[in-house]
Amino acid sequence: MPQPMANSRRERHSARLARVFDRQAPAYARRRRQTEAGHGREVSWRRRLLEAHGAVLEVAVGAGANFAFYPADAVVTAADVSPTMLAAAKPAAERAHIAPTFIRGDIAPLAFPAGQFDAVVITLGLCSYGDPLRALQQMRTWLKPGGTLLALEHLPP
Ligand SMILES: C[S@@+](CC[C@H](N)C(=O)[O-])C[C@H]1O[C@@H](n2cnc3c(N)ncnc32)[C@H](O)[C@@H]1O
Repeated sequence: MPQPMANSRRERHSARLARVFDRQAPAYARRRRQTEAGHGREVSWRRRLLEAHGAVLEVAVGAGANFAFYPADAVVTAADVSPTMLAAAKPAAERAHIAPTFIRGDIAPLAFPAGQFDAVVITLGLCSYGDPLRALQQMRTWLKPGGTLLALEHLPP
């Protein structure tokens, strides 16, 4: 079973992750604009997935590819380790008329109170975690009883 990282090692790891994904942010923003314009298979997948109502936590939000698909009653908290991804996500939130609470941070050390969210959303994000099982376990604790984990992973080429 993987052991939790020591704090200093975790901080270095988070900083490295942020640098890697900061560089990728322009590509994710371009892809999000295509999705917003209705192009690509992701459109129907994201639309079907995002039946997320009430208090919603989206982890690894990236450039905000899901924002256009949230129902009007979703109150979104959006977390990502990359500040450049979050900067790219902000205009997408405005266009979608949602006002997420943005949190910059690595999911691994994030601590939300247990049972806070009606839904936790993660799309194309689990593959970037060193310990995806632990990330899923964390997400489960953040869900209210009967809450829903909504995940989209590993797009085919
Ligand atoms: C492949 S992108 C997916 C972005 C978006 N969810 C989508 O569907 O297009 C993966 C995202 O996960 C974020 N990420 C990776 N590891 C993370 C971690 N440990 N904590 C928080 N965010 C992380 C990256 O910064 C990046 O924005």
